[in-house]
Amino acid sequence: MLVLGIETTCDETAAAVVERGIEGRGKILSNIVLSQVTEHAAFGGVVPEIAARAHVEALDRIVGKAMTEAGKSFGQIDGIAAAAGPGLIGGVIVGLTTAKAIALVNNKPLMAINHLEAHALTARLTAGIAFPYCLFLASGGHTQILAVRGVGDYSLIGTTLDDAIGEAFDKTAKLLGLGFPGGPQVEKEATRGNATRFTLPRPMHGRTEADFSLSGLKTALRLEAEKIGPLSDQDVADLCASFQQAVVEVVHDRLRAGMKVFRGRHGTPTALVAAGGVAANEAIRKILQRVAFEAGIKLEVPPAALCTDNGAMIAWAGAERLALGLTDPLDFAPRARWPLEEIAGPQTKPGLMSEQGA
Ligand code: KG4
Ligand code: ZN
Repeated sequence: MLVLGIETTCDETAAAVVERGIEGRGKILSNIVLSQVTEHAAFGGVVPEIAARAHVEALDRIVGKAMTEAGKSFGQIDGIAAAAGPGLIGGVIVGLTTAKAIALVNNKPLMAINHLEAHALTARLTAGIAFPYCLFLASGGHTQILAVRGVGDYSLIGTTLDDAIGEAFDKTAKLLGLGFPGGPQVEKEATRGNATRFTLPRPMHGRTEADFSLSGLKTALRLEAEKIGPLSDQDVADLCASFQQAVVEVVHDRLRAGMKVFRGRHGTPTALVAAGGVAANEAIRKILQRVAFEAGIKLEVPPAALCTDNGAMIAWAGAERLALGLTDPLDFAPRARWPLEEIAGPQTKPGLMSEQGA
């Protein structure tokens, strides 16, 4: 089974062709990602209107490249998948409309994919992880712990009450005058900093429910920076190191709580799986390893290029759904907001989501 996947929910224009074998194994034939980072850098964050226009300009070429690199024609493809939300609605419309056009012209089924579902299922593409597993999804827009029990069967264990972890890294970088996206810059500065110099809070520490809160940490960091400003290079490095250490401890504590909630509700997970750009952080990976070790399960972190936004994860989610006969009508409405628990799975009628669409 061959599926073309299109991703345009944020600031990456991406397309990929993925193959799913009969036994459920995945193979990436092409995976083209065009980042808009330079377009948004001057603004210190993603500007929705600029993103939508950049997707319009690039998508046609990116899809063509993905097809050429895979050595396939539209006639050989079994289905077209596109991220239909959640995300910046202008970009989502660009990707989903393009997918609908390709599906209509070539008489192929359309799979309207929830972007979070695609992150959730990536570990099955990269490592064939069996259900149920515990997913830690941490990106610029999302911070969630989920029980992934089957295709279309996701249960929320914990979520952030305010900022996402990636967002907290980005805001910290902005405050300290580092570039965008902030995660990699903060991580780099942290390597030469003193993580114990500043006392920052560990929000939600010790709570039995598995939710996150990051905004208090962000504010505490700002107050520390204001107290000692103007900042020297060493001050910036020490603030980054102290911030990152606080996040690492928050992730450790919150995931421990999440593991307990998971066991109570769903039994033992087959693995702890990480997804989203934050999983690229070395210190966070280390603490995930520790959480998995403590829980006696394995850790699966897909390669960085598949943890961040890409077309292969959309194509793969499309292939998993197509294999179950879950396709969507061509009038499927794009959704800016689309919680994973509201998704249509094998247990709900396919196509139902179009009636619920925003
Ligand atoms: O998954 P992603 O590429 O895009 C979405 O947000 O959907 O994640 C990007 C986020 C940004 O907030 C970025 O700062 C963060 O992931 N990030 C990192 C690192 N690399 C990327 N955060 C911490 N450490 C990193 N090394
Ligand atoms: Zn994402």
